[in-house]
Amino acid sequence: MNNTYKNILAIETTCDETAAAIVVGGTRVMSSVVASSSEVHRKWGGIVPEVAAREQLKSMIPVLSESLKQSRLTIDDVDAIAVSVGPGLIGSLLVGVESAKTLAFVTGKPLIPVNHVIAHMYANFLQNSTAENSSRAQPGDNNKKITFPAVSLVVSGGHTELYLMESPQKLRWLGGTIDDAAGEAFDKTARLLGFENRGGAAIEQAAFNYKLSATSYQLRLPRPYLPDQPFNFSFSGLKTAIVREVHALKEKNQWSDQMIQHLAYEVQESIADVLVRKTVTAVEQYHATSILLSGGVSANKRIREKFVSHLPSDIVRLFAPPLPLCTDNAVTIGSYAFFLGKPTDWRNIDAQPDLTVEIDTTLHEDRDI
Ligand code: KG4
Ligand code: ZN
Repeated sequence: MNNTYKNILAIETTCDETAAAIVVGGTRVMSSVVASSSEVHRKWGGIVPEVAAREQLKSMIPVLSESLKQSRLTIDDVDAIAVSVGPGLIGSLLVGVESAKTLAFVTGKPLIPVNHVIAHMYANFLQNSTAENSSRAQPGDNNKKITFPAVSLVVSGGHTELYLMESPQKLRWLGGTIDDAAGEAFDKTARLLGFENRGGAAIEQAAFNYKLSATSYQLRLPRPYLPDQPFNFSFSGLKTAIVREVHALKEKNQWSDQMIQHLAYEVQESIADVLVRKTVTAVEQYHATSILLSGGVSANKRIREKFVSHLPSDIVRLFAPPLPLCTDNAVTIGSYAFFLGKPTDWRNIDAQPDLTVEIDTTLHEDRDI
């Protein structure tokens, strides 16, 4: 195993979070600090990019110094700096990328640029120092190690992407978002139903309440399986279907808290069914032995449950990160940077808001878990 860049200080600012972490050997979390400006955006009903970037400028240095403090390491112990360069909001990305470049310039340490979406899946390789092996302790996996080939599903606010992972270093993109991502479908539904912004968690709660008080009202949303595109995802039609249902219910004077919960339940079931079917199809096609879930939507308990109950065989195991590592953080950036191990001269690193997630690559072969 190559230990050249063992201790990595990672920075993440792609959306409204400012995060820093120190990760050792790609798997051991020494510290993880996340400051979010979501409360500031709440009154606007969505993230205001300019406001997010200003908050990040204010938070960057306190978050970095807190991360070093919690790790009990000093900047001299750090072997490399990693930063998420995209995809994301340009103003937000600039804060993290320029901070990382400054650190690299001042300290002379190598700088590793990282793709934020791909980094999400490395949350499954982490051992949380406070809860040993918690990233692997998911229902059905018996705490065993990830085996390959694995199929990796990244489900976040802006992306729903499927990858084939032949090793932690060898990745192939199989397909992904063609319009709204799964997280976006949750967020748009949440707004239509009157919940707050970034409302996946609110939908999950409302859907749980519905289960306790189910009605006989016939409501079933479509499942966009796209049979001709088995590994691509399209969730924009769900929003249209929900708008139609909301109008119909209001016209019939049947709009109630219970109906809101019913719609939340149905949208969650629809998204879960599509995610499970497409992932299982990939597992069967590539004879995968592990499924790795990651991204904010993978925090959803019903989605995890559906995966567990639809595992295609006894040899396929499901992995999903502990909840705080599903949503945006810098730990995943530090882990992926270790496996990637490709430093770049800081002069050649830029924020890339539209960075592609469609990779087919073999990273360094000499990093192991
Ligand atoms: O990965 P993430 O933190 O940020 C991006 O990179 O986009 O994902 C955020 C997304 C949001 O759309 C949010 O509504 C969704 O993850 N999310 C959830 C849950 N928690 C967060 N979706 C469904 N159920 C949840 N419990
Ligand atoms: Zn993310």
